[in-house]
Amino acid sequence: MSGTPRVRVFISRDAAALALGADETAAALQRVALAGRVPIELVRTGSRGMVWLEPLVEVELAGVRIAYGPVSASAVQALVDAGMLQGAANALRLGATGELPYLARQERLTFARVGITDPLDLYQYIQHGGYAGLSRALSMSGAEVVQAVTDSGLRGRGGAAFPTGIKWKTVLDQQATQKYVVCNADEGDSGTFSDRMLMEGDPFALIEGMTIAGTAVGASQGFIYLRAEYPHAEAALRAAIATARQLGYLGPDVMGSGKAFELDVRMGAGAYVCGEETSLLESLEGKRAEVRFRPPLPAIKGLFAQPTIINNVISLASVPIILQKGSAFYRDYGMGRSRGTLPIQLAGNLRHGGLVEKAFGVTLRELLYDFGGGSITGRPIRTVQVGGPLGAYIPEKDFDTPLDYESFTAIGALVGHGGIVAFDDKVDMAKMARYAMEFCAVESCGKCTPCRIGSKRGVEVLDRIMAGGPQRAGEVQLLEDLCDTMQHGSLCGLGGMTPFPVMSALRHFPEDFNRDRKA
Ligand SMILES: Cc1cc2nc3c(=O)[nH]c(=O)nc-3n(C[C@H](O)[C@H](O)[C@H](O)COP(=O)(O)O)c2cc1C
Ligand code: SF4
Repeated sequence: MSGTPRVRVFISRDAAALALGADETAAALQRVALAGRVPIELVRTGSRGMVWLEPLVEVELAGVRIAYGPVSASAVQALVDAGMLQGAANALRLGATGELPYLARQERLTFARVGITDPLDLYQYIQHGGYAGLSRALSMSGAEVVQAVTDSGLRGRGGAAFPTGIKWKTVLDQQATQKYVVCNADEGDSGTFSDRMLMEGDPFALIEGMTIAGTAVGASQGFIYLRAEYPHAEAALRAAIATARQLGYLGPDVMGSGKAFELDVRMGAGAYVCGEETSLLESLEGKRAEVRFRPPLPAIKGLFAQPTIINNVISLASVPIILQKGSAFYRDYGMGRSRGTLPIQLAGNLRHGGLVEKAFGVTLRELLYDFGGGSITGRPIRTVQVGGPLGAYIPEKDFDTPLDYESFTAIGALVGHGGIVAFDDKVDMAKMARYAMEFCAVESCGKCTPCRIGSKRGVEVLDRIMAGGPQRAGEVQLLEDLCDTMQHGSLCGLGGMTPFPVMSALRHFPEDFNRDRKA
């Protein structure tokens, strides 16, 4: 075998691919190739985001990657015998990966390298444009870097959509001996996984984004607060941080600039409310994750009472390309005041669940049908919940709404972290409303009454509505009053936004609250 060139084969090591058997497929491929004396070079990548095709095997021929999927371990021998490593046609051959409509129709900026490079290979990262953004940032003043981020129009991808550059400027303007950059990697929203995919598939992008933030505003220490359920992301981040530190991209003298930036990973405490930024900071300080009163803002008094940038994974990982290619390049994507791209996550009852990075402005219908392929059950999609468990339910009549922050606000919905969960016409919306209240009751930090007590009473009211009877109209009125109190009287978004799924279900699907159920 010695003189024969090796065929490069790519298989993801993303957690979703592993759950679907990617490790077993990779092991089978190596065994079969060795036995058949076909030399291969197996590269483990992040996922392309086409989850229904995992384990996806890509064979590189004349510089083009040919996709086969889903390839189970038990199918490998027959596929290799039938010429898969030479690109032969068979039932699982999908064609050139980059030309598959699901990928070809996307605009991948933040996810440009995910699924393509080995996530832990710093050389490949740099070869594909990595660290060009930091290099440029280090040649600029902190104020210029912050201005570039402001000019790009980037808004926080964690949920609140606050302009990232304005947050950074507040921290830049503070006088303090110690400032911090904290990455919110708690990713608790239902139907969301873009943070995880990015951290597993391109961890250096997050590290670079945080280093740009830290060196720009004068913060020498960063922390990634990582969801406890993400062991693969933790391993990838720790390995990438060690490599970056060893090669001078982190540490006392970042890229020879004389500026210091250190980075550590801290594991989350496992509650949804830990993703709320002030609760996260409490947890990071080793305390019970309870929401803080605001003001002061974290940008003024954050971690250990010092000025702190706190941003979502995708917000921070989008910064390198903004610095590398310029604000105008990024701002040219999108519509209205929603600039750039959003990694959208398709989940729930969809045939083609996965990750789609698109410029703002794509409609829900395009996402659900052109990308998502409609429901797995084949039934009509009745509603989608966008933006996690606190997001509104959107009815079919609004599926032509463009996905951008303002258009969604206009229909009473939110984009949040860009997770879309689809439901077919079998869904019982009264039960979904009850679920939202129950979720709030379970996850409440307990600090304020409208959330702590209101959510429990909300479950009881919904139970009485679903039980039916003559008092139903009065109970619906009570539910509306309760939601009003929770929305306006809660200290944070958990209690304050639980009314969104509840009231949207009631408004758009009143018939589900008005019918008798079997016990
Ligand atoms: C209950 C609750 C949970 C949240 N969970 C997350 C989360 O898991 N990840 C996240 O980035 N932001 C989450 N947020 C939003 C954060 O409080 C904060 O707005 C965000 O981290 C700021 O970063 P960004 O400006 O980059 O979006 C949550 C907010 C609330 C109210
Ligand atoms: S709204 Fe709920 S989670 Fe938020 S501070 Fe109040 S009790 Fe805590």
